[in-house]
Amino acid sequence: MADLNTQVLGLPLRNPVIVSSSGLTGSARGIRQCVEAGAAAVVIKSLFEEQIDLEVNGHEDKSELSSHPEAAEYIQQMGKHLGPSNYLSLIETAKRENGVPIIASVNCITSEWWANYAKQIEKAGADALELNIAIMPHEPGERSTDIEARYVEIVRQVRAEVKIPLAVKIGPYITALPSLVEKLCRAGAQALVLFNRFYQLDIDIDNLTAAPGYQFSTPNEIYLPLRWITLLTGRTDCELIGSTGVHSGREAVKLLLAGAQAVQVCTTLYANGLDRIASICNEIAGWMDVHGFQRLEDFRGLVGKAAQKDRTAFERLQYIKALTGVD
Ligand SMILES: Cc1cc2nc3c(=O)[nH]c(=O)nc-3n(C[C@H](O)[C@H](O)[C@H](O)COP(=O)(O)O)c2cc1C
Repeated sequence: MADLNTQVLGLPLRNPVIVSSSGLTGSARGIRQCVEAGAAAVVIKSLFEEQIDLEVNGHEDKSELSSHPEAAEYIQQMGKHLGPSNYLSLIETAKRENGVPIIASVNCITSEWWANYAKQIEKAGADALELNIAIMPHEPGERSTDIEARYVEIVRQVRAEVKIPLAVKIGPYITALPSLVEKLCRAGAQALVLFNRFYQLDIDIDNLTAAPGYQFSTPNEIYLPLRWITLLTGRTDCELIGSTGVHSGREAVKLLLAGAQAVQVCTTLYANGLDRIASICNEIAGWMDVHGFQRLEDFRGLVGKAAQKDRTAFERLQYIKALTGVD
C-alpha cells in the first residue's frame, strides 16, 4: 500500500497535495472544506501589499495602482473584504480549526512594510509564509538585475523578521532562473513555488476596453514547471513545489518524478470540485502500486536527477525531438 506522507518546509504532510492560494482559501469555511476533502496543507488567499499599506501603515496608496481610479477602488473594496486585521484572524481560526499546516500568503512588490506585518503573521500562528512576488516591468529603463535585486531584498527583509519557513512563489518570466533561485535561497527562502500563473490581459472588442483574461489553467501548462523543476532538482538547497497545470494525478506524478517536493492545485478544484483532491491522491497511490514504489522518496526526482548528468544535451535533445517529431 502506497504511503503518501511527506514533508514540505519542515512541516509534515499527509500527502503531497496542497491547495494553492485562491478564492477557495479566502475564508475559514473554504479552508475547512479543503482540509476535509483531503488537502495536506492550505495556502490562504493572498493579502495584497496595497491593502496592508492602507490599513496597517496608514499610508496613502502611492503604488502604480493609485493613479488608476478603478484599480484604487478595487483595492479598497478588497481591503474591506479581507484586510490585514481580518487576515490575521483568519490565520488564527484556520489554525484552530484544522490539523494541517496553514500557510499565509502575501502578494508583494516592495519590502518596506514587512518588518511589522510579517511578524504579526507569524504571531497569528501561520506555519509558514508564502511570498507571492510579482514585479511587472514596464519601463524601458528598468533593468532585470534591479528587478531581481528587489525579489532578493524582499526575501532578505522578511527572513530577518520571522523564523517560520518561507516559500517564494514566482512567475516563469525570468531570464536566468537558476541564478535567481540561488539568490532567493541564500536570502533565506526554504522553498520555491514554480510557478505562479499571472493574470492574463484581454481586450473587450465590444466595449473597446482592457479586460481580465481567462484565469484558469489547462493541463498543458504543466510543461513549464515540469521543465524547470527537472532542470533545478538537486541543484538548489530550496525545496521545489510544482504549481500550474496540475489537474489530475498524472501531472502530480510527473512533477514528483521531476523532483517536486509537493504540488499545489487550484483550477482543477474550481472545475471539478474539492473531491478532486482525493482523486489526485488515489491516482498517485495507484500509479505507485503499479510501479512498485512504496514511498514518495522512492521515486521523487528520478527523472530530474537523470537529466542533471548533462543538462545542455538533455534540453537540446528534447528540443530536437519536439521539432523533428512533427510533420
Ligand atoms: C480565482 C483565482 C484566485 C487566485 N488568487 C491568488 C492569490 O491570491 N494569490 C496567489 O498567489 N495566487 C492566486 N491564484 C493563482 C493560483 O494560486 C495558482 O498559482 C494558479 O491558478 C495556477 O495553478 P492551477 O493551474 O492549479 O490553477 C489565483 C488563481 C485563481 C484561479
